[in-house]
Amino acid sequence: SDRVLSLIQPTADSLHLGNYLGALRQWVPLQDSYDAFYGVADLHALTVEPDPVVLKERTLRAAAQLIAAGIDPSRSTVFVQSHVVEHTQLSWVLSCMTGFGQASRMTQFKDKSAKAGSDSTNVGLFSYPILMAADILLYQAAQVPVGEDQRQHLELTRDLAGRFNARYGRTFVVPEPHILKSVGKIQDLQEPTAKMSKSAASPNGLIDLLDDPKINVKKIKSAVTDSGREISFDEDAKPGVSNLLTILAALTDEPMDTLVAGFEGKGYGDLKGAVADAVTAFAAPYRERTLQLLDERTELEKILAEGAAHAREVAHSTITDVYAKVGLLPA
Ligand code: TYM
Repeated sequence: SDRVLSLIQPTADSLHLGNYLGALRQWVPLQDSYDAFYGVADLHALTVEPDPVVLKERTLRAAAQLIAAGIDPSRSTVFVQSHVVEHTQLSWVLSCMTGFGQASRMTQFKDKSAKAGSDSTNVGLFSYPILMAADILLYQAAQVPVGEDQRQHLELTRDLAGRFNARYGRTFVVPEPHILKSVGKIQDLQEPTAKMSKSAASPNGLIDLLDDPKINVKKIKSAVTDSGREISFDEDAKPGVSNLLTILAALTDEPMDTLVAGFEGKGYGDLKGAVADAVTAFAAPYRERTLQLLDERTELEKILAEGAAHAREVAHSTITDVYAKVGLLPA
């Protein structure tokens, strides 16, 4: 069957609600109809130059959270990016086919490097989207479930796949982004016109799924809302309320219309209470499962070793084909 692939960076101790609703939640049902590859992008995380001990721990924590969220390692291949050397191999070949100008136009790179200044921006951050393209193309993934912020990187990936196929003959599946309009961009609770992100100015707008549920309830209750009192879904006029409604609709699987109708005559406090309950109902057992998986570390490491072995088989076959096509002498 067709393949689906997505990775997540181990750049924090906990995944946040945006990661879950925008991406990970979609990964779970896709296991039913696709041959799924899900993993932890530890090589990508090196771009922020993390402490080595912390990176190792976060890689395991991220893997545990994928499983806690419902990824089933007996059906899906769960792996760590650096365990499959072919990612860096393909990344180099693709780098040599990517225009410097095209890479320079990646908005995430422009934002991050503008914030850091060019002296503290490493080259890895610049070539980051090319490594991401390699992640996807190695596995011939047809669908890539991600949040809206990855759309431009997917465009680059499609471009590179098309360019390679045109130059060397059909080699790669050209992947489709799987981005849900409803949840593709979960916003910051304190600044509802910006996406929820671990690098936000204030931690109060961010829901870390592994935090003490009490802390998250507090953050939700102090979320920025909008003027007026009516609960309606209008992202331009009411970004704060609309973001809370988006979160609630996603977590309860309720259609937006029904949800909004249910709040007729009620106030912002009622909405926040409902969101807090829904987040807790998801996050409390998620946290328990994650901590349990981390307690059984050898079991988790075994899952990752098996995942890497399977991923390597697929990746090796792609890179062998690619190396031959571009004219590298077989070893
Ligand atoms: P990362 O680790 O930053 O985020 C993981 C996933 O969460 C999504 N996301 C959001 N979705 C909705 N609202 C938000 N506020 C929000 N914040 C984050 C991201 O879009 C992502 O899907 N480059 C990727 C990791 C990666 C990858 C890949 C993804 C590496 N290789 C290959 C797919 C395929 C990243 O930094 O995601």
